[in-house]
Amino acid sequence: MSSIEGAQAHQSKLYYEFSHLYDRVFTRVFYPRIAQVIRSLNIEPGARVLEVGVGTGLSLDAYPTHCQVTGVDLAPDMLEQAQEKIVRNGWRHLDVMEMDALNLKFADSSFDYVMAFHVVSVVPDVRRMMAEMLRVTRPGGTLVIINHFRSRNRLLAALDSLIEPITRRLGWHTLSLEDVTGNVPLEITRTYKTAKRSLFTIVIGKNRKS
Ligand SMILES: C[S@@+](CC[C@H](N)C(=O)[O-])C[C@H]1O[C@@H](n2cnc3c(N)ncnc32)[C@H](O)[C@@H]1O
Repeated sequence: MSSIEGAQAHQSKLYYEFSHLYDRVFTRVFYPRIAQVIRSLNIEPGARVLEVGVGTGLSLDAYPTHCQVTGVDLAPDMLEQAQEKIVRNGWRHLDVMEMDALNLKFADSSFDYVMAFHVVSVVPDVRRMMAEMLRVTRPGGTLVIINHFRSRNRLLAALDSLIEPITRRLGWHTLSLEDVTGNVPLEITRTYKTAKRSLFTIVIGKNRKS
């Protein structure tokens, strides 16, 4: 479990108990989309990037070596695998550390890009996570979220509600895009899916804090 006092990764112990299986199960599902999204950003040389809830570092391979990436996560077992990837590949542009997304230990405006892939629905307080992500992004910096959001289609939304008791037990809940991005200084510049029937939406926005 996390050694950070008071921090709560999620209601289930899923990531602690199954961290060793995570890549085997999710690489095929998550990595191609993440890689496509990161490539599409054309991250500029020298950019400072934060990935919140970096987990086992499934995304790390996709970042260009000319930017500096910090990954944070609450689950040490997941981070151990991310660290192992960094060492194995000799990646000097990446580092990871244990930290609560709801209480980021970075100064205001420290990053040009802040990413959250499949994380917003597992934290206990998404509004606080968003506030923290925006705080540490510089004005005009970019926020990128990949997640499943509650569908606007009534039938699909009803399906989400039907399976919600199961997903809650597994440690995540289904939020609407508005639950996550409403009432924050974020100008959404693009929302899209990488495939028509994909469950996951990519949200890209500019930090408009003053
Ligand atoms: C579904 S996994 C996604 C991991 C990775 N982003 C990916 O796409 O493969 C969710 C991650 O969020 C992390 N997490 C949950 N609550 C957190 C918190 N409060 N602060 C930081 N990380 C958290 C979990 O430990 C887990 O690694």
